[in-house]
Amino acid sequence: MTKTHPHPDPLSELAIDENLFQQILDVLPVGVWLADNSGQLVANNPAGRKMWEGERWLKPEQFGEHRGWWSATGKLLEPSEWGLTRAVATGEISINEMVDIECFDGSRKTMLNSAMPIRDTDGRIRAAIAVNQDITELKRAQDELVQVRRELEALSAAAVAIQEQERKRLSMELHDEIGQTLSALKIVVETARRRCKDKALADHLHQASEMADTLVSDVREIARRLRPPPLDDLGLVAALRWHLDRVARAASLDIRFDAGTLTDRFSGDLELGCFRIVQEAVSNAIRHAGSNCLRVTLEVNEYHLIVSIVDDGCGFDPGSVYAQLGRHPLGLLGMRERAAMLAGELHIRSSPGQGAEVRAIFR
Ligand SMILES: Nc1ncnc2c1ncn2[C@@H]1O[C@H](COP(=O)(O)OP(=O)(O)OP(=O)(O)O)[C@@H](O)[C@H]1O
Ligand SMILES: [Mg+2]
Repeated sequence: MTKTHPHPDPLSELAIDENLFQQILDVLPVGVWLADNSGQLVANNPAGRKMWEGERWLKPEQFGEHRGWWSATGKLLEPSEWGLTRAVATGEISINEMVDIECFDGSRKTMLNSAMPIRDTDGRIRAAIAVNQDITELKRAQDELVQVRRELEALSAAAVAIQEQERKRLSMELHDEIGQTLSALKIVVETARRRCKDKALADHLHQASEMADTLVSDVREIARRLRPPPLDDLGLVAALRWHLDRVARAASLDIRFDAGTLTDRFSGDLELGCFRIVQEAVSNAIRHAGSNCLRVTLEVNEYHLIVSIVDDGCGFDPGSVYAQLGRHPLGLLGMRERAAMLAGELHIRSSPGQGAEVRAIFR
């Protein structure tokens, strides 16, 4: 039942059909508080009492008993700052102001508070109404989501940094340990071949020597790909051109690279991020798309640096790729994370049979 202020009969003073008014308010899922034109609370509904876990029939100057803090700033609301007080005092309409409240039983909740004046036919403020929507659970879930998102961001930033370190370490080990050992092996085999009198055995040793050669250059190439690109010396455009040339030759692929007349330099992190995004997108196009032609574009306008990698391959459904794979590859996630770490956005547009475009935009 809607409750009204016990002393005089404010509803009949306001000439409202009390029955209808009560019926409407009793079924509303939002809390409703009605004040007369002095700001004195005169009526509420069950949801309003539930919102505050009780009721106080207050005047505006006593609104301090309604303890509330602006959710955005944590600042305590002065009695004059409540929407209802402002509606009575100035006719202001306030919609969905987020307020954390301390209920009369001491519990804490978050609500959206709206308030508006009710005027008579002459336009004079006759009453005011406040509507409270309880969003405690929603806010809690949202806070948790924000927290999880922050933790995920920190985790994937760490993963990207570890990946970069690990690549460097692997590259050095491949080059220094395996590469050197293979070179030494090649010398040993060559020496043995030269001294060998047995023709058949010498042929085998020759083959072994050639295989060692191939291995040395394969290991060098893998080590090179793992190493951070020569961005400091070359800059992003030249480093990408150098990388794409090598990839195009190795994969016998047509890669068109267009950076216009771009000569700008960017921060080291941004250049490395862009390079790695292109590297991964191109590697995906080669490994998964079966495309013949790739287009890599780098452009800068007044506000953005935009990197785009387009292939004409088999395409895929970016929305369901992980569900289908049943494994957890890092390529697409890593690209997204690198873009996010640089306050950028990554968009993947693809569908089966339609090729794919990866587009990263940085401000
Ligand atoms: N350009 C593309 N064309 C077709 N399919 C693609 C393309 N890029 C990605 N995919 C699909 O999306 C999947 C996920 O790509 P992602 O780069 O995340 O992982 P991966 O390349 O399989 O492994 P990783 O990058 O970790 O070595 C791929 O396995 C492939 O099925
Ligand atoms: Mg990949």
